[in-house]
Amino acid sequence: MLSFDDFLSGKKAICVVGLGYVGLPLALLLSKKFNVIGFDINDRRIKELKKSIDTTGEFLTEELNNSSVQFTSDEKFIKKASLIIVAVPTPVDKIKNPDLSFVKSASHRVGRNLQRDSLVVYESTVWPGLTEEICVPILEKESGLKWKKDFNVGYSPERVNPGDKEHTIDKIVKVVAGDTEQTTDLIAKIYGAVIEAGVYRASNIKTAEAAKVIENIQRDLNIALMNELAIVFHKLGIDTKEVLEAASTKWNFLRFEPGLVGGHCIGVDPYYLTHKAQQVGYTPQVILAGRGINEYIPRFIAEETVKLMIKNDKKVNKGRILILGFTFKENISDVRNTKVYELYKELKEYNIDIHIYDPRANKEEVKAYYGIDLIDDIGRKKFYDALIIAVKHKEFIENFTLPFLKSLCKEPLIVVDIKGILNKKEVEKQGGIYWTL
Ligand SMILES: NC(=O)c1ccc[n+]([C@@H]2O[C@H](COP(=O)([O-])OP(=O)(O)OC[C@H]3O[C@@H](n4cnc5c(N)ncnc54)[C@H](O)[C@@H]3O)[C@@H](O)[C@H]2O)c1
Repeated sequence: MLSFDDFLSGKKAICVVGLGYVGLPLALLLSKKFNVIGFDINDRRIKELKKSIDTTGEFLTEELNNSSVQFTSDEKFIKKASLIIVAVPTPVDKIKNPDLSFVKSASHRVGRNLQRDSLVVYESTVWPGLTEEICVPILEKESGLKWKKDFNVGYSPERVNPGDKEHTIDKIVKVVAGDTEQTTDLIAKIYGAVIEAGVYRASNIKTAEAAKVIENIQRDLNIALMNELAIVFHKLGIDTKEVLEAASTKWNFLRFEPGLVGGHCIGVDPYYLTHKAQQVGYTPQVILAGRGINEYIPRFIAEETVKLMIKNDKKVNKGRILILGFTFKENISDVRNTKVYELYKELKEYNIDIHIYDPRANKEEVKAYYGIDLIDDIGRKKFYDALIIAVKHKEFIENFTLPFLKSLCKEPLIVVDIKGILNKKEVEKQGGIYWTL
């Protein structure tokens, strides 16, 4: 039987499988108390981490320099660990079905290197039941070992919020669940040793899986409601922001903002639960309706932009738009599943020439994934027919003054400020046309 003391003394090691936005912070945190191996199939990522370079932008070289994590892309190292934590991606495919290829392939690798009396904990976001129904059989088959006799499993969802320097991994309560009471005890002790905020013991693995997925569904739906209200209020000629400010004065009004819902969590996780619900004979209506609204928002913004251009005698066909921001949210470099791309595609349908500037996004990655060349220089005077501020990056808030934005755009300035970082009255006072969601 595994004992906490063996981990604390360094006799037993922990291996984190998948060193992305979730796995790397976790490996670094655990390494403050335990003997940690960090495994990733991406050889380039491992080479960079060995040189203390984190291309996700979450950690500085100094922070990585001081870590004791043993980084490797050799799966044999998994054998050296008695606790294996899996943090690989769980995206959806083109038709929004869960893509389990990463979690399955990680389970195959872990399974074929699994030692007797080990514990495997999944952190990837999944539907309730997936760990036991899909991952466990792979682990058993690959290892030849028997679940609950020769090895155990657990689940502990990650709630980290990349780019957020306040809610760091150690400050977020960690939900933990194991396949037996003893497994839950051990997982709770190990995470509890490094998570300042403490752990919450869920009664079983399925509950912990479901808790994670509904956290993101709730957020998705609340934003969908704001997006739907924004569409209605635009038609009624009412300013959504002003309505929300007024409504927020009630003690129990929940304040959310309309916006683009991209990335690999909020806009993706709901499909995991809806997929499972449909498998068991129920088609969720509210969750899918929310998804539908949020997926529609890029088109809505594109159409509104084009209407403004036409009304103000701007050229649409071969007109020029500058989009500021390409990442899926502010102050991060992550461009996966960014809805700015959907907005770009919608505008392209009108044959508009679009330039995109983002100081945080990695140019090579954007080119490789989306075939778009981000621009470096936005200083071309009176060049654009309209500007769209798509992402609330700190750099934009701090450096982009109204006179500067005005200098970029042919008269009149049209600015579509999705997240509302400019002052509407100021823009209008300067003769500009202002639109926000
Ligand atoms: N990023 C977030 O904000 C966040 C927050 C909470 C939960 N999650 C969930 O955590 C999981 C991981 O997300 P992420 O953002 O860290 O993903 P990521 O893409 O940043 O990182 C995943 C890493 O796993 C590696 N990998 C893929 N397949 C592998 C395999 N078979 N073996 C070993 N390594 C493999 C990749 O090379 C990559 O480095 C997902 O299920 C996600 O939904 C993410």
